[in-house]
Amino acid sequence: MSERTQVAIIGAGPAGLLLGQLLHRHGIDAVILEARSRDYVEARIRAGLLEQGTIETLREAGVGERMDAEGIVHGGIYLCFDHALHHIPMRELTNGRTMMIYGQTEVVKDLVAARLEAGLPLLFECEDVALDGLEHDEPLVRYRHEGAEHELRCEIVGGCDGFHGICRPTIPADALSVWGREYPYGWLGILADVAPSTDELIYAYSDRGFALHSMRSHTRSRLYVQVDPDDDIANWSDDRIWSELHQRLASDGWELREGEVLDKGITPMRSFVAAPMRYRSLMLAGDAAHIVPPTGAKGLNLAVADVTVLADALVAHFASGSDTGLDEYSDRCLTRVWRAEHFSWFMTTMLHLDPQDDAFGRELQRSQLRYVTRSTAASTSLAENYVGLPLEQTAPPAVTR
Ligand code: FAD
Ligand code: PHB
Repeated sequence: MSERTQVAIIGAGPAGLLLGQLLHRHGIDAVILEARSRDYVEARIRAGLLEQGTIETLREAGVGERMDAEGIVHGGIYLCFDHALHHIPMRELTNGRTMMIYGQTEVVKDLVAARLEAGLPLLFECEDVALDGLEHDEPLVRYRHEGAEHELRCEIVGGCDGFHGICRPTIPADALSVWGREYPYGWLGILADVAPSTDELIYAYSDRGFALHSMRSHTRSRLYVQVDPDDDIANWSDDRIWSELHQRLASDGWELREGEVLDKGITPMRSFVAAPMRYRSLMLAGDAAHIVPPTGAKGLNLAVADVTVLADALVAHFASGSDTGLDEYSDRCLTRVWRAEHFSWFMTTMLHLDPQDDAFGRELQRSQLRYVTRSTAASTSLAENYVGLPLEQTAPPAVTR
């Protein structure tokens, strides 16, 4: 079967779905092709913390209603070390900027519902999705759906298929530069049926490794512990996980409440950037182009920032034929991406135990933790990166002669 659209979007994660929604609001046609089922995509537990810029974008895209009703606004975080909680008052340090806890599962559900209610094409369980014709600027997406072979012609491809997708590998190797780092640790995450034991997120540095207390709602907690990236989840009974959480999050005068574990899994941690984020008419966005370790809570927020810039560029392209936005897309995104890469690396290396590191390294970490909690200059720097720098502050520098 042969079809045509303006923008073919590969992947129905937050990047692909939001791109589709933003384009729809400007009257631009798109077809979204997703490899997995709707149930799988809506249940995949990942990010939870939205920056203010992300919240505003979702509102402007018309999918903010449930987020505003159910999301939990946060004005700070705790850093836990040496058996004490140290509060970083992000809101005061950043002129009132805040973050919100609202699960990626919920963002995805809201975007899927908006698209299906509007009767727009979103195909789940697409097989063997492949790109062709990019070199001749006649992009063609081949895929199989419900047993039938399809060919989708388009002007632009939105490569929103995550780190393991097919879009980035389609780009000739000599047209792409990549940078990356694998960390010698992973995160074991659980979702627990228990009210959060804390009002703000707790990031803990301990002799046993990193731990994070986050949440999904007023009745559900999300918690993480640093583990070996090659560890098997079968080695971690619920009792063992709670025991580690108690020890790593321990601080004077504070208690961790336990509850039924509803979900658990181990995620490796890596940093990765591919540039440029464009190859002819293929535009990469989100995890397809870059990965950050989750300690800085930046991955989903970067994906949203990318597609905001991309949607503006596509609106100009289709409305007035201006390609300036598309030409500048990669540079505009990458400046922000590299800032988030640095911040995520900084938070990760400050808070995790590197098995190769020695006592000297541990003292440097503890000194840095004391500094970011006691110095207003250092905590302001952490806070402005954590809540998310405004787009204009992460724009490429002006050319000086
Ligand atoms: P994805 O969500 O990976 O979506 C890509 C989609 O493409 C998927 O649905 C996939 O099935 C589909 N796909 C893949 N291949 C194909 C193909 N060949 N054809 C069609 N479809 C395909 N970020 C934050 O901002 N804040 C946080 O608090 C945070 N916490 C995290 C915690 C954990 C444990 C993890 C793992 C990640 C966290 N992140 C966080 C990162 C965040 O989840 C990702 O950055 C985000 O999912 C990126 O969205 P995306 O749409 O680019 O990619
Ligand atoms: C989460 O709630 O999943 C979460 C929150 C903050 C992070 C990472 C993950 O830094």
